[in-house]
Amino acid sequence: MKPLIAPSILSCDPSQFRPAVKQMLDAGCDWLHFDVMDGQFVPPITFGAELVRSLRGLAPTPFEAHLMTRTPEAHVNAFIEAGCSRVTFHAEATDHAHRLCQELHENDVQAGVAINPATPVEAILPLVGTMDLALVMTVNPGWGGQRLIEQSLSKVRRLREAAPALDIQVDGGIDPTTIGRAWEAGANVFVVGSYLMRAPSIAQGIEELRAACSSKS
Ligand code: DX5
Ligand code: ZN
Repeated sequence: MKPLIAPSILSCDPSQFRPAVKQMLDAGCDWLHFDVMDGQFVPPITFGAELVRSLRGLAPTPFEAHLMTRTPEAHVNAFIEAGCSRVTFHAEATDHAHRLCQELHENDVQAGVAINPATPVEAILPLVGTMDLALVMTVNPGWGGQRLIEQSLSKVRRLREAAPALDIQVDGGIDPTTIGRAWEAGANVFVVGSYLMRAPSIAQGIEELRAACSSKS
């Protein structure tokens, strides 16, 4: 497996979304990650599918929506139509995660299932073989710039043992120091928000993240 970098636009100045996304895409990121918050599943409200649609034409890089919403069933279609190649919803937000994965597959879109720090990994083990990606939150969802919760990495380890070929994503507190530990634990898809805003440039930040994984492989 090789590490895949998925920048999140959450920490960008909203008036600069377009140029920032352009830099992320030009830097060769593997995915672009949209953090969608509804003010209910998590307190903040961010943006909807129109933002995805307005940026979709910039490059062929796949886009993914991370739905931090209480009613993912009500929202997936908008993000499919806007051009997402993967939609990730929270296991805590639906009684029908398996059915929602099926619905995404029927639309030729990858299905990601996320768990919060307090949710045991057992909640999604029955979806191994159905979901395309498991997102193990390494912070409590809602805000960028938080510190990675180390205990989340033991869930990544457990999941990797159970699912050697699954895409396992971590989201929250990823920087060149923490990415190596997450990679060693078994994660292979890394969401990165605030670190890329602190890095000397977005391109250099992405390079440093990749280098931190290769020095540990
Ligand atoms: C948190 C979001 C994350 C967040 C990551 O709810 O899902 O994608 O933007 O930000 P950093 O990298 O700053 O922790
Ligand atoms: Zn996210």
